[in-house]
Amino acid sequence: MPTNLKSPINFSNPPRSRAIGYKSRHVARLSNIPLLGRSALLARFQQAASETPPDARFPKLLAFLQFWKWVFPYLHDFIHKVIPYQTYPSGKTGIFGIDAPPQDGTLRIAVAADWGTGTLESETVAKNMLACSPHYTVHLGDVYYMGEIPEIDENCLGMPRNSYTGVQWPTGSLGSFALMGNHEMYSGGQGYFKTFLITLGLLNPGTTVKDPQSASYFCLEAAHWLVLGLDTGYHSGGVPAFTSIPGLNSIPFLNVDARFDDKMLAWLKQTIDTLLPPGSPKKPILLLTHHQPISSFEHEFKKPAEQLAQLGFLNGQEFVWLYGHEHRLTVYNPQVIANSLRVYPRCIGHGGMPVELTTLSQPDSRILYYDPRKHPIDDQDADTFVGYNGHIELLFAGTQLKIEYHDIVSNDILLTETFTPNGTGALQFSHSVPPSSKLLSGLQTS
Ligand SMILES: [Fe+2]
Repeated sequence: MPTNLKSPINFSNPPRSRAIGYKSRHVARLSNIPLLGRSALLARFQQAASETPPDARFPKLLAFLQFWKWVFPYLHDFIHKVIPYQTYPSGKTGIFGIDAPPQDGTLRIAVAADWGTGTLESETVAKNMLACSPHYTVHLGDVYYMGEIPEIDENCLGMPRNSYTGVQWPTGSLGSFALMGNHEMYSGGQGYFKTFLITLGLLNPGTTVKDPQSASYFCLEAAHWLVLGLDTGYHSGGVPAFTSIPGLNSIPFLNVDARFDDKMLAWLKQTIDTLLPPGSPKKPILLLTHHQPISSFEHEFKKPAEQLAQLGFLNGQEFVWLYGHEHRLTVYNPQVIANSLRVYPRCIGHGGMPVELTTLSQPDSRILYYDPRKHPIDDQDADTFVGYNGHIELLFAGTQLKIEYHDIVSNDILLTETFTPNGTGALQFSHSVPPSSKLLSGLQTS
């Protein structure tokens, strides 16, 4: 079985992922089913289906018939042991100084979300990220389907398993970091904390870890910006189907509200007190989470924004918030959320899962750009469509942050935007779209 791509993929007629040794795109696409797609039961089924032999003709049917491989583990999940919340050890602050080597000038960080599928798309996006020569990489969470240790090995650490090609998370030349999503917590977080996290942090040449990311959150301190990676995943793996049921989804006991853990909030307060003491000049902030604070298409997780507003350090300044969980690309106009947070929201959950079809039946003034494109899921099923995957590049030069939105096709740039702080908390924003870009504005229906 061929295991490596020899030529660029034709995304208007892509090869079947399983046919060339990668995990099934059809199995992954089940996650886009409303409500059920966000359930741990379906995740267990997807896990079993993705582990059927690559030459099985009907992997979903085979997995369904072998119900003991997913029903019994699902029942066991009710008593699985959730790993205790991990914090930085004594002497470690969770603040990582990042900079580009002097000869490079611009600091480059490649970011993807919802990437850990082990599919052909995941492999292609990883290669595109590396082609941008990032100093650092960041994953915003979700390693499918349960985030268990064998899946981390296969979908993040590149280890072949069950006759499938492993896919390796791309590390930057100086470091790599990752948040966790709900899928890592479906199995209690053991795989993320015990297997993935130990490979992350500031790296020596040769990718040995110099300063480990020892917790599921971090602060990257650049010369002029702070990048805050905050964990919404730990409290999101409880009873996922409840996330869309108003009233139930805000009950902390059910663990689906994606709230920040109190231990992380204490760390965040201490970090801000250290780096931005009262009276100090405002420093622009880029926020990273797994879950979406706003959405024009799905449930909005409001609790993390409310917790941030209560801390108060973001009052009076604009900031950029990148997140995933939704499997699509959507760039929003500035919003005010939780009554006081002035935010530029960007959903970049199109990293590796089959991207959900994004259509607007009426104009949505909240949206600056969205990606309406679709392509056949593979050359064996021309009637099933998915959207286009991709990743983003953060480019820090002087005080300016430039964000490039890269398409999975040829690593083309779909959109470029710049944020320049004015020193008083506001961000000067500009953007450009190349003539070839197929993105639509929120005022254009599709
Ligand atoms: Fe997620």
